[in-house]
Amino acid sequence: MKMHILFPALSLFSLMACSQYGTVAAPPDPLSIVPYPSSLEKHAGTMNCSDKLVILADPDRSVQKTAALLAGYIAGAGGPAVPVKAYTGARPEGAIILAIDRKAPAGEESYRLEVREDGVMLRAREPRGIFRGSQTLRQMLLAGQGTGKKGPSLPCITISDAPRFPWRGLNLDCSRHFYSKNDIKRYLDLMACYKMNVFHWNLVNDQGWRLEIKKYPKLTEVGAWRTEGGKRYGGFYTREDVREILDYARERFITVVPEIDMPGHSRAALAAYPEYSCTGGPFSVSTRWGIHTDIFCAGNDGTFRFLEDVLAETAALFPGTYIHVGGDECPPFKWHRCPRCQSRMKEQGLKDERELHGWFMRRIASYLETLGRKTIGWDEILEGGAPAGTTVQFWRGSDRAAEAIERGHRAIVSTTGYTYFDYGLAVTGLSKVYSFEPVPPGLPGDKEGMVLGSEANMWSEFATPENTDAKLFPRILALSEVLWTPKEKRNYDDFHRRMETQYVLLKGLGVRYGGESEPGFLKIGYFFRDLGILFRIIPDDPEVAWHTVKLYLGL
Ligand code: ACM
Ligand code: ZN
Repeated sequence: MKMHILFPALSLFSLMACSQYGTVAAPPDPLSIVPYPSSLEKHAGTMNCSDKLVILADPDRSVQKTAALLAGYIAGAGGPAVPVKAYTGARPEGAIILAIDRKAPAGEESYRLEVREDGVMLRAREPRGIFRGSQTLRQMLLAGQGTGKKGPSLPCITISDAPRFPWRGLNLDCSRHFYSKNDIKRYLDLMACYKMNVFHWNLVNDQGWRLEIKKYPKLTEVGAWRTEGGKRYGGFYTREDVREILDYARERFITVVPEIDMPGHSRAALAAYPEYSCTGGPFSVSTRWGIHTDIFCAGNDGTFRFLEDVLAETAALFPGTYIHVGGDECPPFKWHRCPRCQSRMKEQGLKDERELHGWFMRRIASYLETLGRKTIGWDEILEGGAPAGTTVQFWRGSDRAAEAIERGHRAIVSTTGYTYFDYGLAVTGLSKVYSFEPVPPGLPGDKEGMVLGSEANMWSEFATPENTDAKLFPRILALSEVLWTPKEKRNYDDFHRRMETQYVLLKGLGVRYGGESEPGFLKIGYFFRDLGILFRIIPDDPEVAWHTVKLYLGL
């Protein structure tokens, strides 16, 4: 417990003494775009906002919505109120044209942006590409604020742009701490600004169940609340909340992937429905961090009926192709002692609990397949024989990624040492994040397309809605460039120079960004913090404490 006190003291010291905050020297530069485009040519001249400004947009509904957002960005950057009209092919002076064009660069997120003295032309094959291009324009407008008489003036350029990876995500843990609907919308909008396109919504963990499920009301009546310091803490998202967030994400071409973690990290669900555990409970929603041993019973058919019902409601609500079912950090001690789990192993010819875990995940993945959905699981799913065709999210390292890809699994590579933004800046500082290479070493070139991309992992044991900005920013900008910009165009010194402008933009967007780095010796603070967690686990569950030590030591 003492160690918990030591850690914040160390953090505070590091913040005061060692953190490097972005400094603002030169005026913001509208070409300091992040992520940097595939190709940017600068021309002579500037485009000045005038009363003639009009947005002419393809009649497609989502392009019209992008046009409305763009009009908002112009007004927000000190420009005039710009009318939005349908694009008919004419190009009057002062027009900002958003055109769907089959001759635009190939790729559903690709776009071509031309800023000329007499107007702007943004072309893409798909509305998604128009939206991504609008975010380049948004950054240019924000950086150009105050430069012209009637709003920002923009340098003339031609940009041709496309992402390196299709999966550029943020994984937000809404269980350990609850984020309001508005917090989430704000992060979706900030993601959009940096061309991130997957919101991995972590809805379930030991410390809180956050998704309303009509068939099992106790999941949120009981599972969404814990007692902390004598007070009730928690919250959940109703179906209406989810729909509102999905609409908001859709307008920004962000795919939402819900995660319903199983069979581990399930204490909150088991507090509500203890009959699906091995021992029958009773349980409370957990108030300590770390791994827990009370997990879903794999020998009880009722567990699968329950989980299938939950997944069916989840799939009905979330329209995306993918559902994440976790599979991580699942110590099998209770399975080992459970007669039903043991007889399941016999009946299925499984030699140990690791294989039982594999069988569990395969059964769930087959069910999701009947719903027409694809399964994602954390890399633990490979250990007991991963369901064929599942996408694996690597977090403990990417050593096994090449082999898994060879066996037909797609990969999301989001390893702790580069993309865990709950970790301190001594571990995942800005330059370290920027140095990340998602494609694992040794992967044949023709298999690179199997690496979908990566995610910023924002676990919230030590993050709250109040301090999450400082953990995500500026690091997520580095990750956005890793995932979008061609590898050969990446240059940390140039990125760091562009960050001077980006800090101004972030401030304007109301982001309370944090530092860039901390000296390595401060990792000792995290060691003591983890030791503090371990001391809380020992009296609760000595077996899992030992399991945790082994995980920590990589045994
Ligand atoms: C994880 O960090 N347990 C995926
Ligand atoms: Zn069992």
